[in-house]
Amino acid sequence: MNARKWLLGIVATLGLAAPLTASAQGELVLYCTVQEEWCRPMVAAFEKATGIKVLMTRKSSGEFYAQIKAEAANPRGDIWWGGTGDPHLQAAEEGLTEPYKSPKLAELQDWAVRQAEASQFRTVGIYAGALGYSYNTEQLKKKNIPEPKCWSDLIKPAFKDEVQVANPNSSGTSYTMLATMVQLMGEDKAFEYLAALHKNINQYTKSGAAPARAAATGESLVGITFQHDAVVQAVGGAPVKIVSPCEGTGYEIGSMSIIKGAKNMDNAKKWYDWALTSEAQSIGAQAKVSYQVPSNKNASAPPQAPKLAEIKLINYDFVKYGSSAERKRLLTKWDKDISTLPK
Ligand code: G6P
Repeated sequence: MNARKWLLGIVATLGLAAPLTASAQGELVLYCTVQEEWCRPMVAAFEKATGIKVLMTRKSSGEFYAQIKAEAANPRGDIWWGGTGDPHLQAAEEGLTEPYKSPKLAELQDWAVRQAEASQFRTVGIYAGALGYSYNTEQLKKKNIPEPKCWSDLIKPAFKDEVQVANPNSSGTSYTMLATMVQLMGEDKAFEYLAALHKNINQYTKSGAAPARAAATGESLVGITFQHDAVVQAVGGAPVKIVSPCEGTGYEIGSMSIIKGAKNMDNAKKWYDWALTSEAQSIGAQAKVSYQVPSNKNASAPPQAPKLAEIKLINYDFVKYGSSAERKRLLTKWDKDISTLPK
């Protein structure tokens, strides 16, 4: 066979093969805001169950909120799965997401349904988890610093440059911390606290869970994250201790929303219904990548998941702190009053 014939043969084969590999069930563009390690097995299981080809990207809560807003005239994403509830509620209020009442709502915990009701069914709770921090036990011993137990410990001079947390503009985790401090201390005291904490911050990361990894490797002594993100590190064998701060702490209702004008609307609804099943909500725990509390009543939380009933939780006002005006106001104030402070 000469080279030309050989090439034509390949082109013909590819031409034939292409329609066979494109899924007959179509595609789904998934914006995923949990850790990539959890996004991947979810995608694989959904593709297997439905034959739908999933195109997935992972970004933080604030980043996808901004992207969905920027793309509103010509949406590229179909479904936004995971991430803290506040920016999902903001997107709902701004009409960026689609109302949908899943038949699976009946199987969900009250807190997940309340999230749906608060948004006129434009978002729904898929998991919950409490904020806290973790520290590297070996580093703490080496530096001879007393064990931190409270939020107030993290602003002590001993922790200068030893604390890591994400930037609240990109990260829902960090916005949860900002809103938690305001609810716990009142706004003036909260901003005084954040200004004092700023002196001890070694880096504001983009993604919320990154500081848990930094504490695990000892790159940072302390990482402020959701407690379940630190559990991933502890289960993986890292020398970390997880702290539920003594003053009390806030929590998230991780959420999911269908993007308004989704090109693959039917497939977005298929993902939505599927992601609310107890089977789908058990995938993360089975893969040892998620220790959140699942929203489906029949899905069991992994034994290592922090027990919300045993944590001193504040009565987090999701409606207020997920409102467009309040989220914008607090982030602008943080940018102006905290991020610009000298160290
Ligand atoms: C991690 C947590 C999730 C949380 C998410 C928010 O993935 O495991 O529970 O919803 O962070 O991400 P972000 O990067 O926006 O803080």
